[in-house]
Amino acid sequence: MSETLNKETETVDDEGKRDFIFLATGAAAAAGAASLVWPFVAQMGKAADTLAAGSIEINLSNVPEGQQLKTLWRGKPVFVRHRTPAEIAEAESVDVSALPDPQTDDERLVPNSSGKVNPKYLVMVGVCTHFGCVPVGEAGDFDGWYCPCHGSHYDTSGRIRKGPAPTNMAIPPYEFISDNVIKVG
Ligand code: FES
Repeated sequence: MSETLNKETETVDDEGKRDFIFLATGAAAAAGAASLVWPFVAQMGKAADTLAAGSIEINLSNVPEGQQLKTLWRGKPVFVRHRTPAEIAEAESVDVSALPDPQTDDERLVPNSSGKVNPKYLVMVGVCTHFGCVPVGEAGDFDGWYCPCHGSHYDTSGRIRKGPAPTNMAIPPYEFISDNVIKVG
């Protein structure tokens, strides 16, 4: 089953929402990782159950530069970050041989139907690979994501750079079904 996300179910970060996610993950940390996703699900509204299964389609052109869309796929948060030129340059300039989980930025992107990757859009499962908290965007020592549960820092490619998380944030299975639309799952 494939669901096309509409305005009602898409959320794009602004200061308020980012703060909400940060507070929700921080407050829930003491209660255990399993509870962390629930504030996010509640925020998604009535379509969350539908979106939790099957595949979803996301129109990348709805995500402004410098913003992140958060949605839900099979019960997991998915981040779609429209990266700025500075974020892309930072991601591409890293010496990957020194990383805990070596991956180039290109290896974390999926080519379109022409076989080219578009470094503007990073699509990830928004779950910390340590114990499953939801990291905060535009935070941490590497300007990417920061997990407040135990202090993992991810870079602008979602690669683990510092802290207890063992691996980079995962890339979900997805493909381009047109120039600007991807299907996740
Ligand atoms: S869950 Fe432990 S650092 Fe993210």
